Amino acid sequence: MLRRHGFGPRKGEHQPPSEFAPTGKFGRMFPNLPAFTPSEEGLTQLGNAMNDTDPNNPKGDNINVPAGYTYLGQFIDHDITFDTTALGDMMVDPLAVKNFRTPKLDLDSLYGSGPDVQPYLYQIDDSDLFLIGKTNQQPGGGDSSIPTELPNDLPRSPSTLAIIGDPRNDENLIVAQTHLAFLKFHNKIVEGIRDGSIKSDSIMGKSTFEAARELVVWHYQWIVLFDFLSRVIDQKQLIEVLEGGRRFFKFGQDPFMPVEFSVAAYRLGHSMIRADYDYNRVFTSRPGGVTPATLQLLFLFTAQSGQIVPIPSDWIIDWRRFFPIDPNVPVNLSRQLDPFLVDPLKNLPNVPPPNSLAVRNLLRGRNLGLPAGQDVARCMGFRPLSKEDISTGQDGNVAAQFGFDVKSPLWYYILKEAQIQGNGVRLGDVGSRILAEVFVGLIEGDRNSFLSRCSQWTPILPSEKPGTFTMTDLLKFVGDANPIGD
Ligand code: HEM
Repeated sequence: MLRRHGFGPRKGEHQPPSEFAPTGKFGRMFPNLPAFTPSEEGLTQLGNAMNDTDPNNPKGDNINVPAGYTYLGQFIDHDITFDTTALGDMMVDPLAVKNFRTPKLDLDSLYGSGPDVQPYLYQIDDSDLFLIGKTNQQPGGGDSSIPTELPNDLPRSPSTLAIIGDPRNDENLIVAQTHLAFLKFHNKIVEGIRDGSIKSDSIMGKSTFEAARELVVWHYQWIVLFDFLSRVIDQKQLIEVLEGGRRFFKFGQDPFMPVEFSVAAYRLGHSMIRADYDYNRVFTSRPGGVTPATLQLLFLFTAQSGQIVPIPSDWIIDWRRFFPIDPNVPVNLSRQLDPFLVDPLKNLPNVPPPNSLAVRNLLRGRNLGLPAGQDVARCMGFRPLSKEDISTGQDGNVAAQFGFDVKSPLWYYILKEAQIQGNGVRLGDVGSRILAEVFVGLIEGDRNSFLSRCSQWTPILPSEKPGTFTMTDLLKFVGDANPIGD
């Protein structure tokens, strides 16, 4: 892989503008802004101060964003970006970094390259349908009375590895169950096309598989823009980008993956993660439960931990606790969008040191030559956060010590902006605009997306509000929201 002793396209150098970043590679949205390369020491100290010191305090919860959206967000991330570069590879040019996912919201993490090329993802006797895995033959230790071998795990090989389009979707149990929900969504649509209950002009003349795939992907793209994104950003920015066009994420024929998004803005999700969850009737702190589902436990029930897989039946998710499906069931909320991460993320399993996610994010941003948050704000025409804004709180004290109150690492700046401008419930100016531009751009730049093929299209599947579609609608349509009952 090409390495440079310096950063990617920079002012004054003869560098290709971001329009020409090749497909399949990372690139820059702001090629003319200088890289911000503070000391590793400062970044490490800032990362260590980005600590959620009161993780069970409901004041730190985000009332607008149920916790299921955190892992939907991670699932979306795994659809569009996959950088395998080691953190130790310093000073990396994004144009030299291969993205192992297509920078499109096309669910290649689900479909792989389709049944002809990757037949093992699909059922042997009916390749229109995804394989679905069964839960463990052994009963779970939490409630052994739940039937075993239910169709509610990822499909797995005899060695227990998940047979899925992206191995990262078996990294923790909630993202794994999200992947499973999408496998079932596809299969349910195939059923509907076959029995004639699903009809649409857009799918006429297509094979059942291609028709189902298009419906899955278009409904998913709709969810990304109008359910997920609309909850975490300033809606005004999304409307401006949809109606007025993109101003900062420019590309030629095909979109690329901008590092300002993958290494900063879209890592917003790390601040949404809770230390533990009310997972189902067994793994909860509510009366009758055994224990809450801590992050450590969620990592245990995955093939990557080498521990207990297939998952025991008492680990099947109760989606009513993660999305607003049933008004009688309280939902877990995500944590606020602010510069604080919960403790277990200081000590990540399965990664080489540094094991702190905050420190990794900050070092990654430096190594990829991200510009400072304030420079991006000015370039976008926003008033940057002031020194006083930034130097508040435990993180702000450390930030000020290292001069980050004047020039801040972009990921940190975006989370601070969310805390100050968005009251912790949504992103601020810079974060919102980057997310809106990139998500709209990835959909517009995909020749098969609903925006490219049929911009007036609206969802056709049953939903609470006709003509729109949310994760709640998707899970209700799949009809398997709480397989283990109350
Ligand atoms: C328990 C949940 C999660 C864990 C443990 C986790 C952990 C990680 C780790 C270890 C990395 C690589 C860090 C590096 O070396 O640079 C990473 C990258 C990333 N994460 Fe997360 N993450 C989680 C959830 C999320 C969520 C909810 C989002 C967004 C909504 C997200 C967005 C990203 C993005 C955009 C990247 C860069 C991906 C790439 O370019 O390959 N993550 N995450």
